[in-house]
Amino acid sequence: MYRTHLFGYPAVIVCSSSIIKFVLQSSHLFPYTWPNSELVGYNSLTAAQGERHSTLRRFVSVSISQPSALNRISILVQPRMVDSLRSWAEKGTVIAFDEVKRMTFENIGKLFISMEPGPLLDTMVHCFVGLLKGVRAQPIKLPGTAYHYALQDGAGNKLCDEEVIDSIIGLVVAGYEPTALASMWAIYYLAKFPKVLQKLWEENMAVSAKKNREFITGSDVSEMKYTNKVVEETLRLANISPFLFRSGDKEVEFQGYIIPKGWKLLLWLRYNHSNSEYFEDPLCFNPDRWNKPAKPGTFQVFGGGSRSCVGNMLSRTELAIFLHHLVVGYKCELINPDAKIDYLPHPKPIDRVKIAFSKI
Ligand code: HEM
Repeated sequence: MYRTHLFGYPAVIVCSSSIIKFVLQSSHLFPYTWPNSELVGYNSLTAAQGERHSTLRRFVSVSISQPSALNRISILVQPRMVDSLRSWAEKGTVIAFDEVKRMTFENIGKLFISMEPGPLLDTMVHCFVGLLKGVRAQPIKLPGTAYHYALQDGAGNKLCDEEVIDSIIGLVVAGYEPTALASMWAIYYLAKFPKVLQKLWEENMAVSAKKNREFITGSDVSEMKYTNKVVEETLRLANISPFLFRSGDKEVEFQGYIIPKGWKLLLWLRYNHSNSEYFEDPLCFNPDRWNKPAKPGTFQVFGGGSRSCVGNMLSRTELAIFLHHLVVGYKCELINPDAKIDYLPHPKPIDRVKIAFSKI
């Protein structure tokens, strides 16, 4: 843990896993504030605080994390994954990041607002502000959409229309880019580590033979042991959210350190994910390291505490399903295997992973 200045503010950089855990679990001392609540809407999960946040979070969690929701979502996302992969093979050479962004957005459109690919969706993909405007302007028949139905609890209680719209926008904003980045990094690592690809292919061919051309479900995914290790390893090494921000509401003492009131905190998650004390040969893409769970507090790709990622099960499941369709049907090669990595705003190779892509 050390002091510095970031963008003109006094700040503390936190690397220690125990202090990161303490900060994330003490939201009353280090509140979480979303930078652009006016864009996502004040009724969204990311903007809400206190009791309101807990209630919204319970609704959203049930709608995207329970096994029944994951089974439903799994079936819903696969047609667009299958179509996208087929179209990449027809093109032959593609920029993986651009393509997975498109595929992810098509699935988000289908999932949350029952929207099919088309010109409006195209406009939204190209323009982020347009995306937000578009979601708001979309004539969503709220009472009819599957997602609106999902945002009710067992007793029939539901969120009001504004809360539903803001929660949809919040989920799109929070979930779109990280999901696309995770798929892009998975493609990159598999192209670089052929032994991992071979093991993944074997497991997924066995699943494919059992399913006899049916789509796989969330329950199938939980049985795909090696695939789930590839997902965990992708998330660890890709460091899609390398750090998190908080600021102190009051002076806090922890383990003999004083964190002054008003100072910014940068919680450096990547430090632990790439630390050889916790992960042997940390820069190697080795899914087998997940034969044992990580030491508590050292693997925080989805944050922690009351603001941990509500989409974590959804993104793990979606990534596993994407890997399934990718490896059973296609092969790819990096055009620039030594491309440099750009670290801001999210880590990615500067060529956005240009690949030669074809059917097996
Ligand atoms: C690989 C993909 C993803 C990664 C790495 C990721 C990472 C994270 C992290 C680190 C946080 C905590 C932020 C903080 O404490 O400052 C977070 C929060 C959040 N994420 Fe994700 N996320 C992913 C996918 C998704 C998806 C697919 C959704 C929704 C569909 C989503 C929705 C959210 C929301 C709503 C929050 C705020 C939760 C709250 O305030 O209670 N994320 N995410």
